[in-house]
Amino acid sequence: MISTNRRMKNRFFATALIILGSLSLQSLHSQDLLAHVEGRNYSSLNGKWEIIVDPFNRGELNWGNPFWKEKPPTGKTGFYEYGFEASNTLNVPGDWNSQRPELNFYEGTVWYRKQFIYAKKPGKKSFLYFGGVNYRSHVYLNDHEIGQHEGGFTPFQFDITDQLKEGWNSLYVSVNNRRSEENIPAMNFDWWNYGGIMRDVYLVETPAEYILDYFIQLAKGNDGRIQGWVQLSDKKRGQAVKLQIPEMKLNVNLVTDDSGRAILDIPASPVLWSPEKPKLYAVKFSTTEDNIDENIGFRTIAVSGTEIILNGKPVFLRGINFHEENPQRGGRAYSEADAMVLLNWAKELGCNFVRLTHYPQNEHMVRMAEKMGILLWEEIPLWQGIQFTNPLVLEKAKDILRTMITRDKNRCGIILWSMSNETAHGKYRDSVITSLASLARQMDPTRLITSALMYVDYADNTITISDPICKVLDVIGVNEYLGWYKPWPAKPEEMKWESAFNKPLIMSEFGAEALFGQHGSADTAGLWNEEFQEQVYKDQITMLKKIPFLRGICPWILTDFRSPNRLHPVYQQGWNRKGLISEKGDRKKAWYVVKDYYGN
Ligand code: GCU
Repeated sequence: MISTNRRMKNRFFATALIILGSLSLQSLHSQDLLAHVEGRNYSSLNGKWEIIVDPFNRGELNWGNPFWKEKPPTGKTGFYEYGFEASNTLNVPGDWNSQRPELNFYEGTVWYRKQFIYAKKPGKKSFLYFGGVNYRSHVYLNDHEIGQHEGGFTPFQFDITDQLKEGWNSLYVSVNNRRSEENIPAMNFDWWNYGGIMRDVYLVETPAEYILDYFIQLAKGNDGRIQGWVQLSDKKRGQAVKLQIPEMKLNVNLVTDDSGRAILDIPASPVLWSPEKPKLYAVKFSTTEDNIDENIGFRTIAVSGTEIILNGKPVFLRGINFHEENPQRGGRAYSEADAMVLLNWAKELGCNFVRLTHYPQNEHMVRMAEKMGILLWEEIPLWQGIQFTNPLVLEKAKDILRTMITRDKNRCGIILWSMSNETAHGKYRDSVITSLASLARQMDPTRLITSALMYVDYADNTITISDPICKVLDVIGVNEYLGWYKPWPAKPEEMKWESAFNKPLIMSEFGAEALFGQHGSADTAGLWNEEFQEQVYKDQITMLKKIPFLRGICPWILTDFRSPNRLHPVYQQGWNRKGLISEKGDRKKAWYVVKDYYGN
């Protein structure tokens, strides 16, 4: 046993080092994100990872023997009270809650270890890429502290060229999913607080000088020109970059400027991407050292008065909401297969549009949607009770927004960036969302900005949209639960909606709960029967059809989903039952009301 005062001293110095170290290491993770890692030379670290559940956070210090510096016991008196060798394992990608019953409600730290063999190649750079880890992660490789990341829904990477060894390597990641006031999202949200390495983990290898990023889209409001840029890792002028789009017979030679960026602005007349014809072009970016193959669609999106204009024509968005959850597994969705399940259900419902709630979902989902011709609303998780008065929260929100747009800006299916969900008008909230909207427009002038609002003015049969934040939005989203949380103030056909803004409206949420297979009268919410939910949808559609500036609807929600807020012992049991489909895939009666409306 180490004597108390020596132990206290060790702990003090160790803590001091950790704090100093983490401050300096924070900067590591803010590396510019590598675009399209699956289009590069990568190897997957997915699979079984050894774990140590660490509710008391012993692993960082552990009396001078931290988990990430495994020292085998020495001599006859040496020992240590943890071990990865014979430990349990978790599948990566995947949340821990749905994999191990004892972790179903767990909020705390889990340590992961992955050992792998690596063959180093001279002159190459190696990056460690995480698709998404909820909520806070601390990464170590071969006794080196690599860096930290905060935020559960955006990718991050570290340059590990110098820390990677030839032969066996030991990678350690500590993950903590504890909620807190200054997090995004904060203390309460209506989805399961899944923890863990939720998405793919890749080792990405690039040449010493590589293609870092690119943005290629049709010019705003002009489908006769392709504009954009290609960013190289080395910020110096005069580097040659080639862009090829064989199907358009485009073979363009570019040269970088002082910042290592090559600007593109060329006439082109692509077949436009649309839900009916989701045309993607093979695009090749190359330099003397590096090359990346992409699939990119070209379309224009704009607003004109209260119309949303896709490829020059008004469009109505037949939408649906869904969380990043495979309901049959009762866990986070993370794969192409999971994306297929959810997006095929949306297609079967008759959707041309999906609101990916309430956070950036995995890249497989976004790429699959554009292949299937589904328009997307993507959102950062500023969900209800956010600490807008805390300047740190604005910085975190900007980081999430920047990373979401960096990762997905070439995905033509995305037409809307959403800044928040159900936040209340106020000085701090308005200023945060205003600065987020201007950051989004500065990064990506081609897309529309929206937010899902909840606070509208109810006065008898008239509902008025007056939230001042609408001034900075291109498209207004409103969530309303008439017939569920709020009784009808008048007959649905008598309801009137008014707006202080001449902008398109998407009814971004509405619905009601029902337990599949529960049947009874359509007039009592407390019975949780399908007939009640079905009637709410019929009434909602009666009202929605009459709103003159309505340009899209998004029922809440495609499938029942897990939430710690939904605790009715018989009807919910930890599931929010607003799904049109049960968690087993059964269609409720309300499903057919929406399918019929979309079909006509
Ligand atoms: C809110 C919120 C959703 C939530 C839903 C509900 O509007 O945006 O995240 O799940 O209502 O109450 O079911």
